[in-house]
Amino acid sequence: MLDKVKKLIGDVEAFNASTKEEVEQFRIQYLGSKGVLKDLFNDFKTVENHLKKDIGQALNQLRGAASEKVNELKNSFGNTTETKSLYGDLTRPADPINLGARHPISIVRNQIIEIFNRIGFTVSEGPEIEDDWHNFTALNLPEYHPARDMQDTFFIEKNPDLLLRTHTSSVQTRYMENNTPPIRTLSPGRVFRNEDISARAHCIFHQIEGLYIDTDVSFADLKQTLLYFTKEMFGKSKIRLRPSYFPFTEPSAEVDIYWGLETETDYKITKGTGWLEIMGCGMVDPNVLKNANIDSTKYSGYAFGMGIERIAMLLYQIPDIRMFYENDVRFLEQFKSVL
Ligand code: PHE
Repeated sequence: MLDKVKKLIGDVEAFNASTKEEVEQFRIQYLGSKGVLKDLFNDFKTVENHLKKDIGQALNQLRGAASEKVNELKNSFGNTTETKSLYGDLTRPADPINLGARHPISIVRNQIIEIFNRIGFTVSEGPEIEDDWHNFTALNLPEYHPARDMQDTFFIEKNPDLLLRTHTSSVQTRYMENNTPPIRTLSPGRVFRNEDISARAHCIFHQIEGLYIDTDVSFADLKQTLLYFTKEMFGKSKIRLRPSYFPFTEPSAEVDIYWGLETETDYKITKGTGWLEIMGCGMVDPNVLKNANIDSTKYSGYAFGMGIERIAMLLYQIPDIRMFYENDVRFLEQFKSVL
């Protein structure tokens, strides 16, 4: 019997398995309730006393070897209780984090704010639902003024009129009411106009407004500030101011930058002229200062306003304004590399 047990110890130590099922079969064969060891321990009862010591030791050795083998092989096939544990396998590599992208409107808005921050402008915001006073009347656009037609408006309520603001100039009015000069502020935000939606126009878009009020502010200050901005924003250092009309500024101008005519795209976006219109501006009309209780004999100022989408379309060659609002990830993820 001793020889038989010793041979089994050899078999057990040499055993190997290629699947979990084989390990389980092996366990049943040796350690199960009808297994090899059970039989051997039964036989052991009839062994003569003087042989009991050696055979007993060998049997214990066999039992130890068999259960050690089972544990070892089970571990090598992965411990199922561990993967079911609360955190799973803590040694595995982490899931990759999919980085999102900032929306191009946010990117461009932040860039503009950053450039004007450097020369002392702060950011101010106002409500998107406005009253007639802040959006029109205080800005020198009295009722029945024909210039109101320039901005086709969504009205929410009549008498008193409540509307969706048609420009961020409404924040100028609010800011002047609540602050005293010197004023240097930028007002970014969403604006609404009752316009047909096309590749170039939308009924919802974004503007950023600038307002500067102090003593002795001249048109030269305005021009120099805009030149600084276009250099920083576009790397272009040639601008021109074309006379224009806004009820709240006098004189008023449209700002064009010289984009150049180097590539075919330059021809396309500038319609062959090399010039691109990027914003409206002017010296704040004294009536607007009076409406906000600012002494127009002491203070003067300038204001400018631009469409954020228009600038973003230029910078990133976006062909259709509707792309900003569709939230198509194939569009959005292209801005991943921009902070
Ligand atoms: N509010 C004007 C617009 O929406 C832009 C503008 C702002 C013009 C400030 C002059 C000064 O068209």
